[in-house]
Order: sequence, then C-alpha cells, then structure tokens
Amino acid sequence: MLVLGVETSCDETSVAIVRDGKEVLSNVIHSQIDVHALYGGVVPEIASRQHVYQISMVFEKAFRDAKVTPEEIDLVAVTKGPGLIGSLLVGVNAAKTFALLYEKPIIGVHHLAGHIYANAIEHEMKFPSVALLVSGGNTELIYMKDHFEFEIIGQTLDDAVGEAYDKVARVVGLSYPGGPAVDRLATEGKDTYLLPRVYLSADSYDFSFSGLKSAVINLVHRASLKNEEISVADLCASFQNAVTEVLVQKTFRLAKEKKVKQIIVAGGVSANRGLKERFERENDGFEICIPSIRYCTDNAAMIAAAGYYQYRKNPHTDDLSMNAVANLELT
Ligand code: KG4
Repeated sequence: MLVLGVETSCDETSVAIVRDGKEVLSNVIHSQIDVHALYGGVVPEIASRQHVYQISMVFEKAFRDAKVTPEEIDLVAVTKGPGLIGSLLVGVNAAKTFALLYEKPIIGVHHLAGHIYANAIEHEMKFPSVALLVSGGNTELIYMKDHFEFEIIGQTLDDAVGEAYDKVARVVGLSYPGGPAVDRLATEGKDTYLLPRVYLSADSYDFSFSGLKSAVINLVHRASLKNEEISVADLCASFQNAVTEVLVQKTFRLAKEKKVKQIIVAGGVSANRGLKERFERENDGFEICIPSIRYCTDNAAMIAAAGYYQYRKNPHTDDLSMNAVANLELT
C-alpha cells in the first residue's frame, strides 16, 4: 500500500511517500527554522504563510524523489492535529485537494501517533509497549496494548521537555532551537551544578520541568548580579542530566510495572544524545527503539507510517469535511 503523508503542524512543511508503513520512497522536509530564528521562536502567522509558499513545491519534489505518479497513491494521510491551527489548515487543505483531484481515500492522523510510528519505519513494533513522547509541546508516558491503543499514564504538569530545553538555551545565550545546542554543549561539560530532580510522589508517572527551568534561570541571574562566570557547558550538562534522569527512571519503572516487551522513545527530544546514552546505559533487558535523527523531528514519513497502521487497524476513511483540530486528543 502506497501512502502519501502530509505534515504541517508547526514549522516544517513535509510530504512523504511510504510503502507499507516501512519503505520510505521520499520524505521531503522544508524547515522554516531560519525564518523563526530571527524571532527566537515559532511565529504562528509566519509559519502558516511559509507553508502556503512551500507546500506545492514540497508535494512535487516528494513525487519526483519517489518516482511515482499521483495515480499510484492508495491512501492520503495528513496531520489533523494537534498543532498551530493556521499551519495545520494548509496541510489538511492541500491533502484534501489532492484526494479530491485524484479520487483517493484520505485519513486524518494524530501528530503524536506520527511521532510514535516513526519507530515503525526502522523497527518492528511489539506489544505491549511503553512510549515516552518528548517534544516541544508534549511530555507523555503512554501504555500501548496494541497498535493504535494509547493509554496516557503520565504527562507534564507544566512545561514540556523541549520547551524547557529551548528556554534554558535562550537564558544561556544559545540560538533557537535550543534543544540541539544544549545537547551539543552538554557533551563538552560536566554535571557540576546542583539542580532539582522532580519526581513528584514516589508512584507518580507525571512530570514537572518548570522548577528545574526556574532553577537554571535563577542561577544565571544570580551569577550575573554577582559578576560571576558561568560555565555554560557545565550548566548544559547538569540540566541535561537532571532531565534525562527523571525521564529514564519513570519510563523504566512503568515498563517494569506493565511487563512490556518494548520501550519506544519518540518526538523531537528523542534526538537527544544524553537521553539515548542513559537509556542504553541503564537498560536492564528491554528492547529500546529510538528513531534515527531524521525521523525524530517533524516529518511526513512518520505520518504516512502512522496512517498505514491506523488504516489497517480500522479501515475508516474521512470525507472532505474533515478539518484540522488544534487541540486534538490522542485517546
Ligand atoms: O517533535 P518536534 O520536532 O516538534 C514538536 O514539538 O512537535 O520537537 C521539537 C523540540 C524542540 O523543543 C527542540 O528544541 C527539541 O525538540 N529538540 C531537542 C533536540 N533536538 C530537538 N531537545 C533536546 N536535544 C536534542 N538533541
């Protein structure tokens, strides 16, 4: 089955063609990072306009790269939400236009299901499993009994991990997007600053990162008032250690409790080297799946893969009244 995937939920315009949820024939990603970097973060109005400029070219390139014709597509899968509404609408309308023009079935896919199914491209998903979803807008621990059965066990009570990374990066003077920059510097530094690890109660699977973020901000401000030097690399290493310790500890605890076969790590922050290393170092017998970097951040191949499994589980298709939903629920 040849699935056309379309993703425009935030600041990446992406179209992919994937066979049977595995074989990626093309995965074109146009990133808007350069444009938003001028403002230190994503500006929603600019993001939607950029999607409008790019979407037709990205569609055309996806077909050229894959060497297939529109007639050969069996199913269109498009990110329906959650995300920036103006951005989502561009992808949904482009996908619906394609489906109408070529008389193809279309389904709306949840963006976070896409991140989870990025793993299906390179790994065989085994159930039951636990997914740790870490991105700019989400931090969730999800139990999956089977394909497309999501039970949210824990989530952040305040900031998402990626959001905390971006904020810390800004405070220490690193450019947007901050996550990769903090990750890079963390490898050059040592965990020398004492920062809080927030576990909430002993049996809680929820997360909280705003206290940790504030601790870093206060430390930087105090040092600047006293004219003291800060080692940015050490601070990044200390922050990264505090974040990954809690994420990994809670994920393993849930995996043991649920006796799962596999742990899936997904979302933009799954590209983090410190997180990957800690999972490998502390693993005690689980199969851990983390996507390759190119499938960690937003891309349409993961949407096509998720669409394939979603359709196989429930061959329901949407009609052309399908619309984008900014706060779409996963469950
Ligand atoms: O999943 P994603 O591409 O977009 C959504 O939020 O849906 O995630 C983007 C987030 C940003 O906050 C970015 O700073 C973070 O993922 N990120 C990282 C790394 N690469 C991207 N955070 C930590 N370490 C990284 N290597």
